[in-house]
Amino acid sequence: MSLENQLSLDGLEGYLQQLSWRNRNFYRSWLAQTYYYTSHSTRLLEFCEFYASDAEAAQRYREHRQEENGHERIALSDLRRLDADIVHYGEQLSTRTFYWEQYEVIRKYGDRPFLGYVLMLEILARDHGPYIFNEVRAAYGDRSANFLKIHVEEDVDHVNSAIRLLETFTDSEKSKVLENFNWSINAYKAILDECRSSIKEAPNENLAAV
Ligand SMILES: [Fe+2]
Repeated sequence: MSLENQLSLDGLEGYLQQLSWRNRNFYRSWLAQTYYYTSHSTRLLEFCEFYASDAEAAQRYREHRQEENGHERIALSDLRRLDADIVHYGEQLSTRTFYWEQYEVIRKYGDRPFLGYVLMLEILARDHGPYIFNEVRAAYGDRSANFLKIHVEEDVDHVNSAIRLLETFTDSEKSKVLENFNWSINAYKAILDECRSSIKEAPNENLAAV
């Protein structure tokens, strides 16, 4: 099986489509948790740079860090536009697990496996971002969908360059990337599950009037 076929999120389609993107409370929770884990993107890339064994890789992490810089604030401003304040949303345990594991992986195995986490998020944005973006846009308008808009637009190119990079890895590095990719899918699903259970506890606010 080709590398590209192994890096598939096709199995997530049905799962993502049955989530309540048009439920304002669900989308708020998702934005808040997105804010928490994206707050670690530049730190994780800095950590990778520290562990990188060659100058080229270090440079790539620096460039990627610039691209990710400030993205957490976009999630935060989308949240504000839905009249919600991050102080009312704690960081879920599933969210902390999602990014914290990456520090552990990098510390134990070096920077290379981190590409599995990056690819999971970028392929998610490329393959499923357009559906989620359309749901959210239909429900709340463009103003609260900037985080999704940016990632749907940018991550198509990012996936291609990440796969080209992965092809230069050794077989054992590739298998660590795949392992991390698959781990990250399940950890990300746990975040969505926790967002979903958090809205069950809150009154159901099924959009409509914006
Ligand atoms: Fe980003």
